[in-house]
Amino acid sequence: MKWICSVSLAVSLSIQPTFADALFAPHALTPEARDIFVTRLLKKMTLDEKIGQLRLISVGPDTPKSAIRDMIQHGQIGAIFNTVTRSDIRVMQDQVMQLSRLKIPLFFAYDVVHGQRTVFPIPLALASSWDLDAVAQVGRISAYEAADDGLNMTWAPMVDVSREPRWGRISEGFGEDAWLTAEMGRTMVEAMQGKSPADRYSVMTSVKHFALYGAVEGGRDYNSVDMSPQRMFQDYLSPYKASLDAGSGGVMVALNAINGVPATANSWLLKDLLRNDWKFKGITISDHGAIKELIKHGVASDPRDAVRIALKSGVDMSMSDEFYSRYLPELVKNYEVSEQEIDDATRHVLNVKYDMGLFNDPYSHLGPQRSDPPDTNAESRLHRAEARDVARKSIVLLKNRLETLPLKKSGTIALIGPLADSQRDIMGSWSAAGVAKQSITLLQGMKDATAGKATVLFAKGANVTDNTGIQNFLNLYEKSVDIDPRPAQQLLHEAVATAKKADVIVAAVGEAQGMAHEASSRSDLTLPPSQTMLLKALKATGKPLVIVLMNGRPLSLVKEDQYADALLETWFSGTEGGHAIADVLFGDYNPSARLPVSFPRSVGQIPIYYNHLPTGRPYDFRQPNKYTSHYYDAANGPLYPFGYGLSYTTFKVSPVSLSAKTMAHNGRINASVTVTNTGKRAGATVVQLYLHDKVASMSRPVKELKGFKRIMLNVGESQTVTFPIKVEALMFWNAQMRQVAEPGQFDVMIGLDSARTQDAGFTYQ
Ligand code: NOJ
Repeated sequence: MKWICSVSLAVSLSIQPTFADALFAPHALTPEARDIFVTRLLKKMTLDEKIGQLRLISVGPDTPKSAIRDMIQHGQIGAIFNTVTRSDIRVMQDQVMQLSRLKIPLFFAYDVVHGQRTVFPIPLALASSWDLDAVAQVGRISAYEAADDGLNMTWAPMVDVSREPRWGRISEGFGEDAWLTAEMGRTMVEAMQGKSPADRYSVMTSVKHFALYGAVEGGRDYNSVDMSPQRMFQDYLSPYKASLDAGSGGVMVALNAINGVPATANSWLLKDLLRNDWKFKGITISDHGAIKELIKHGVASDPRDAVRIALKSGVDMSMSDEFYSRYLPELVKNYEVSEQEIDDATRHVLNVKYDMGLFNDPYSHLGPQRSDPPDTNAESRLHRAEARDVARKSIVLLKNRLETLPLKKSGTIALIGPLADSQRDIMGSWSAAGVAKQSITLLQGMKDATAGKATVLFAKGANVTDNTGIQNFLNLYEKSVDIDPRPAQQLLHEAVATAKKADVIVAAVGEAQGMAHEASSRSDLTLPPSQTMLLKALKATGKPLVIVLMNGRPLSLVKEDQYADALLETWFSGTEGGHAIADVLFGDYNPSARLPVSFPRSVGQIPIYYNHLPTGRPYDFRQPNKYTSHYYDAANGPLYPFGYGLSYTTFKVSPVSLSAKTMAHNGRINASVTVTNTGKRAGATVVQLYLHDKVASMSRPVKELKGFKRIMLNVGESQTVTFPIKVEALMFWNAQMRQVAEPGQFDVMIGLDSARTQDAGFTYQ
């Protein structure tokens, strides 16, 4: 693999001149050495230099390069974000080395969320793979490419558990489940930081958004969060904790308030929990402009007050906010902020710079100028094979009536839809270092797959949306949707005429990438009317209809499910998306992904998630009763449940066998099933373990994911999968906020999705 070969380059790059000052002689990257080093350095620093370290700036119209140079010279800046080329980064690090008094290196950060130059599937898609090896590979390659661009830190992973499909940022996380998200977050951190974030091809992670950003009320971005402590600890906080336990050096503080206190002003969150209970030693960074937003939150009276509150609450570094440097000196002079508090925050910044190896070699991720790639976007810098492999693993088959899929590579196929040939959309959000021109659309992927064998006809059929208000919104900051100026009827007629010439129709529909992003909340989860009209017209041709969805959130797909003979959820699948989808469509890859989030039938069902609590009046569709918990105009359950996904083969799961009927206090038992491939093709599936505490001091969820395993089975092959169940899996936060495992009966449920399981039970003593 390319990234492994490139490690040899690291060796040659380490002949860099090391940092000259005697204080900065090469030193061991141990916590003890770091403490001594940072303590000595702090003693040399003036108050202004310390405050300078707390400032993180993005180069842009408000802070042009000349202003940055000046700030660097005067020690007024600690780190830079949004600069992504080695040449630009080197200029700034040179300025530090040549112009500043103490020569404290800058670190450079960026949103490397699902790839850097190579764009991998969006995180929600990565979670759909339930494949930790694949996710680790994405982490390693992303870190490699980011470090190769000179970066030291990424604003990732985002581990905000979300049960809110209205929230556009659900696309950036790993779904609705704390266990799955924790596994994904931990894997990403370990992969991106490698053995050490100081290594040539590793970067430091900054877990975000601490905390609970995924639970914004109504799914409206930046809205507040109100949550019981039990739910917080049980269902939302563990992924942040797992990522920090994996060693993440950074934490980005969320923009939302938690139970009335904005995270940026929340000393319980940032000090009591993060520092005292979780023993975090790295850096906390505010989100973009969050400090001044404390005024609008209504907890600070003016910018000075906001600075005082944020710093005292535990926000070390301010992102894109000039207020720390403007007000902290005066706040210290007036004894409203102590020097000790400034020292603590500065120490955290210096700690991470030390861990990044920057005091050994400020150019460690840059190398000598002659090693800079002549073309930052060179094709040779991409990891296409790996991107294609991961993308195939993240595509979920939702429906496949009468084995419509896989398609034959013969005859005529009509590819229709506004997303079929969009190079920008397939990359998804947070992919700005990627180049749209380098991504493979579905049209290209299908043509490559069928070259010389089948004819692929194409028509756009509709715009993503005909709503000009939404079009304008999506094109506000970047031209993200190309609007075909022809009348809707003309597009539709062309599509139907094209479809009529074909044996089968593939319709690529969904959301433009900008519809599932930051600040992209929706109140309606159906496809825009322009696209539903298109699907209706295509259905009316009577040809087999395969719907390929590209989108960044669970959509409500009741109509699409009715229209489609086959339905594929491909999310935004990245640089190699078109090839990967074609691999699945034509059976060169047998789909194996599973939904990491429930798909509602309608917005009215939200929140809808698999691990809900029971009620005193559960609804039973076999014996409907008016006074039970249900909607009279809709089913209770989702359209597609958590963990769901089909394959081109079939699997059978045996009854559960338990190693014992009772688990001793603090003991463990094993639960096993045998899974058999009963179909006609080799295929992978994901075996999922759920537990339920039947009687406890508090109501416990009807089921909770506690383990999963991805297995590959040849035709007729069987494999026994064993899950060890330890006492930790039985624990929950009780009414007194103590984590306990209570004796009693537990249900064990094992299956290939959360809805259909084989069940057994044991007693915990
Ligand atoms: C704001 C976003 O909320 C955050 O996720 C991102 O990392 C920063 N901007 C920097 O781009």
